[in-house]
Amino acid sequence: MKTALIGCGAISGNHLTAIRALPDVELVALCDVIPERAEAARNKYAPDAAVYADYRKMLDETKPDAVHIATPHHLHAEMTCEALARGINVFLEKPVCISEEEIARMTEAEKKSRGRVCVCFQNRLNHSVLLAKKLAGEFGGVGSARAAVTWCRDAEYYRTDGWRGKAATEGGGVLINQAIHELDLLIGYCGVPSTVSAKTANHRHAGVIEVEDTAELLIGFDSGATAFFTATTAFGCDAPNFDELFCRNGRRITLLGDALYLDGVPYEVEADDRAFPGKECWGAGHVRLIRLFYEALSSGSPMPITLESAAVPLCVLLAAYRSSEQGVPIKIK
Ligand SMILES: NC(=O)c1ccc[n+]([C@@H]2O[C@H](COP(=O)([O-])OP(=O)(O)OC[C@H]3O[C@@H](n4cnc5c(N)ncnc54)[C@H](O)[C@@H]3O)[C@@H](O)[C@H]2O)c1
Repeated sequence: MKTALIGCGAISGNHLTAIRALPDVELVALCDVIPERAEAARNKYAPDAAVYADYRKMLDETKPDAVHIATPHHLHAEMTCEALARGINVFLEKPVCISEEEIARMTEAEKKSRGRVCVCFQNRLNHSVLLAKKLAGEFGGVGSARAAVTWCRDAEYYRTDGWRGKAATEGGGVLINQAIHELDLLIGYCGVPSTVSAKTANHRHAGVIEVEDTAELLIGFDSGATAFFTATTAFGCDAPNFDELFCRNGRRITLLGDALYLDGVPYEVEADDRAFPGKECWGAGHVRLIRLFYEALSSGSPMPITLESAAVPLCVLLAAYRSSEQGVPIKIK
């Protein structure tokens, strides 16, 4: 199978490492508007790959079976639709896109295409997450949950890449970028979300970013469960993410980073492979998810993470932005 990648920035090494480990997948082309980035990636990962600055030209000339999209958020919808229009499968970085209108356009484009989309919520594959979901099911489901993402992103981080911290290009702040993974997991534990009441703030990055660096959400679910979720990039360090699931039979599951506790007592979890590039907080899941993506393409089985399921946390956080603006709870469609 032939593949290509658009966006040779910070996360691209995780994709390229995963592709390189797959003997039946050949990386034929790389694209970045900053040519040195694409050339550096080619030199490191695939010396025979072609390098492009124009992704449409790359798709037309190299005709890959799949393309990885690892570009700023506002480009996800356009690039996915262009690939699908050419019948090319897409492995898309989170978030799906930045608006409901874009979700609708992408969904329509996938329906009309022979290509399919898999979205990169790699943490869904973490052993601790899979175990927590299984245990919560055995304990009658989740009645209440709380979760916190408390990370540190300084002004330098936001200034280095111009698309960060701007509504038009990032689509929001901590919620749509750093915290969307944890929000996605919380939804995985609690079920179908129905309402959200939220407040967002910019506590530490006023004058640096125009979007929120902090958010708090109260989410209602069809099951009757409630979840309280807080997220910030204004913390003093990257603390491990925290989730606590209060199950309907009275048992309590706590996740702190990769560790799991049952009623406060450590519970054994199979260790995730830690040999991966990039930041600790990105986890180890890219390699496993990308392998599953290509296996699904080969066998014709369903995508491991569909566009439809990956759009759910995005719809919740877009509703949270509206709730914060309007000062009222918002129903989630
Ligand atoms: N799954 C995860 O855990 C995870 C972690 C980090 C980033 N991400 C996501 O990956 C995406 C990229 O993030 P990043 O941190 O690598 O950003 P980045 O800014 O480091 O890299 C983006 C790259 O895209 C290139 N680019 C911009 N416009 C382009 C265009 N029109 N054509 C081709 N290339 C273009 C930029 O030059 C840059 O090299 C984002 O969606 C981000 O949310 C996901």
